[in-house]
Amino acid sequence: MNRTIARITETLEGRTPKTAMVLGSGLGGLVAEVTDAVRISYGELPVFPQSGVTGHAGQLVAGNLSGTPVIMLAGRSHYYEHGNPAAMRPALEALAGIGIERLILTNAAGSLEPDMEPGSVMLINDHINFSGTNPLFGEPTDKRFVGLTEAYDLRMRAAFEKAAEETGTPLHQGVYMWFSGPSFETPAEIRMARIMGANAVGMSTVPEVIVARFLGLKVAACSVITNLAAGMTGQELSHEETKDMAPRGGERLATILKQMFSDGGLDG
Ligand code: HPA
Repeated sequence: MNRTIARITETLEGRTPKTAMVLGSGLGGLVAEVTDAVRISYGELPVFPQSGVTGHAGQLVAGNLSGTPVIMLAGRSHYYEHGNPAAMRPALEALAGIGIERLILTNAAGSLEPDMEPGSVMLINDHINFSGTNPLFGEPTDKRFVGLTEAYDLRMRAAFEKAAEETGTPLHQGVYMWFSGPSFETPAEIRMARIMGANAVGMSTVPEVIVARFLGLKVAACSVITNLAAGMTGQELSHEETKDMAPRGGERLATILKQMFSDGGLDG
């Protein structure tokens, strides 16, 4: 861990980002918007996840987005790759170790709302952990009893809303339900998810939110909608579709993020 923190600090060359972002499917292009960028491949960061999914590179990029210092993690580890819900914990601990205070998570998700179509962006205002697992299993201290009443920071959410309004970008809000994956849900599971109060479903983000709150980081998260969920269209779902559709919502989300960071970001 100390080696990883030292390696990142050395690469930052005096930059002092307070916000980090995890880029999900469709948002990879945002790293090209970072100016004065330095990059480290996860291969050089021993505690970072070393495997990946097609469509996800493994690279830490530090620099400025709209003039505000930021760290972007292009590539994350998913629970469905190995069955370890805490796979991102060491990476998030390293970020906390270099002084990161806020985390913005992004993902691709399936929509449960017919009028939240593919290409939409949904700001997550709460989640349902339907995986049956938790990244804090095995954590021995009482810190494991982390409160999640306000897991998604109100000020950060307000900043998303403001940036969406200022750029005229439609922004939905709702509850994200974490399914373990990697198989997609069944239509019956989607009907259940709707009854339980979910607006979107996906295979990531929730474990990172739990770990980030455990570490005391403030959190915001956004989904780009790539498809209507299983059983809603009569068509089978596929990872290809997810990858093809993610950049559409990704562009909208990038517009919001660039605006958010343009007035000092969340530091302002
Ligand atoms: N279900 C789960 N994860 C997803 C979906 C979905 O429909 N679309 C994109 N990621």
